[in-house]
Formats: sequence, structure tokens, C-alpha cells
Amino acid sequence: MSAFKGIKMGNAQVFRSAEALRNKIQSRQLVETVGLVPTMGALHHGHISLVNKAFEMCDCVVVSIFVNPKQFNNAGDLDKYPRMLEKDVELLKEAGDVLVFAPSVEEVYPKDYEEVQLDLADLGNVMEGRFRPGHFDGVVNVIKQFFEMVKPTHSFFGEKDFQQLAVIQYMTAAFDLPVEIVPCVIVREKSGLASSSRNVRLSEREKEEALVIFDALSKSKELSESKTISEVKAFVKELFSNSELELEYFQIVDPLTLQELKEWAPGAHACMAAFCGPVRLIDNMQLVAMKENQ
Ligand code: PAF
Repeated sequence: MSAFKGIKMGNAQVFRSAEALRNKIQSRQLVETVGLVPTMGALHHGHISLVNKAFEMCDCVVVSIFVNPKQFNNAGDLDKYPRMLEKDVELLKEAGDVLVFAPSVEEVYPKDYEEVQLDLADLGNVMEGRFRPGHFDGVVNVIKQFFEMVKPTHSFFGEKDFQQLAVIQYMTAAFDLPVEIVPCVIVREKSGLASSSRNVRLSEREKEEALVIFDALSKSKELSESKTISEVKAFVKELFSNSELELEYFQIVDPLTLQELKEWAPGAHACMAAFCGPVRLIDNMQLVAMKENQ
């Protein structure tokens, strides 16, 4: 009897239950490595680059699509988060033989679910953690749960969510989880705008206006050679005061601790969030090269 109990969309298989997904993986021959690409759907080129990387490194690739209610601290944002499973599956079919895991909220968080508590210390209370209280607790819970449900050997995360990546690396080490976390470079549109599921909520005009984000990061990188950190921050503040976007934060941080730097150091990294109308966008860029072996 076939182990497949999911829904067929074209020739892509969409699994609603973790058990059916695991049976399917086990039924495949010669699968030693399983790559998980966790997503919240509304897939774009950035996600597809993670999927391609997963195919390069793993025998079997699972893409999860789940809008995680625990990581939204704003109910309106959760409601407005784009949901388009059929379109996502169509896009994934072009990427290869992907197993799509799209569980319900009850499958991920059953009635007896016990919340994971992890003290993220200084990693959790800066930048996104400061402006979106509880957000990373939600991310930690969902990713730990997905690792338990899918049992991947590798999992792929975009560097656009720079702090999220640091939190997931920290969590994986803290719980000693047997998963290799693979960071993947930011994918940008030709204009420089970082690919994001939220971009579908921007009009063409807003997309133009949002280019101030990439501009701020690129110019900060240039200026890091001649100006102090305070001067670069003042420059970015001024750039935004003349734009249509509202800057929430722009910080220059150590890439490992994510604590603010007062002076330039190897690996200095700029992270920022800004509102383009009601749409919150984040982006980041390394401003100063790492030291060799750093
Ligand atoms: O980056 C995202 O899309 C989400 O935070 C993630 C990692 C899929 C967890 O819900």
C-alpha cells in the first residue's frame, strides 16, 4: 500500500501530516540526507535559491509552508500575511521533486503541546527582538517543532533574516539538535530590493520608494571606509527623513553577538527595519570584511 496520504497538486505532493511525510521519506531509496526549507509561503526567488541549495546538498528536499501564528505580535500582520498554497506549489514544481509539508495549526501545536522556553539573552532583546517582543520565542517554537516532525539532517535559512539565523544557530546548539544549519545569501531584485514575501503588498511606486533601504546600506558600506559609525548613522537618518519610508532602526552590530558597535571592527554588519506605508521591511549588509578565519 502506498505510504502517500497527502493531497496531489499536479505531480507535487502536499502533506498535511508529519507522519505521512516521514513515511514518504522513508519509502524513498538511498536517502541519507534530508534538507528542510522552512517557509511561511508566498514563495519568491529567495526561497527558490534556498531550495536549489538544498538540492545541491541533500538527497531529499522538504519545503514547509506554515504561517506560524506564534511569531506574530500583531494580529493584523498575521491576517494580512499572504497565503497562496497553489501558486507556491506550482513554483516548487519547477524547482524539482520537492515534498511540500503544509500542516494545520493543530498538527504543529496539538492540544498537549508544551511551549519551548529558551533564554536568548542578549541575542533576543535587540533589533527585531526589541521591536517585535515574543517574535523569536515563536520562531524557536516552530522551528524546533518542525525539526522534530521532519527530522532533517540540514536546514536552510536566508541571511535576509540575519538575527533569525543567529537565533536558530543558537537554539540548535543550545538543544544539541542534530541538524546542520546552512546560511544562504540574500537574493535581491535587479533594483537591489531584497526579495521578501511582503513585497507583494507593495505597489510599483512603493517598490521604488523602498529602494532607499538598499541605498542606505550600500552607501553605509562605502562610507565605512572614511566616516565614523556615528557619522554613518546620522547620514542614514537624514536619508530616511527625506524619504517616504519611516525608519524603525538602523544599527551597526557585531555579526556574532549582534550587539551595537561604537567603532568599526571586522565583520561590522548593518541591520535595519523600515515601514513602507503599513508594510514592514527588513534588510542587512556586511559593511566591513571579516578577518581571515573569523
Ligand atoms: O523566515 C520565515 O519565513 C519564518 O520566520 C520561518 C523561519 C519559516 C519560521 O516560521
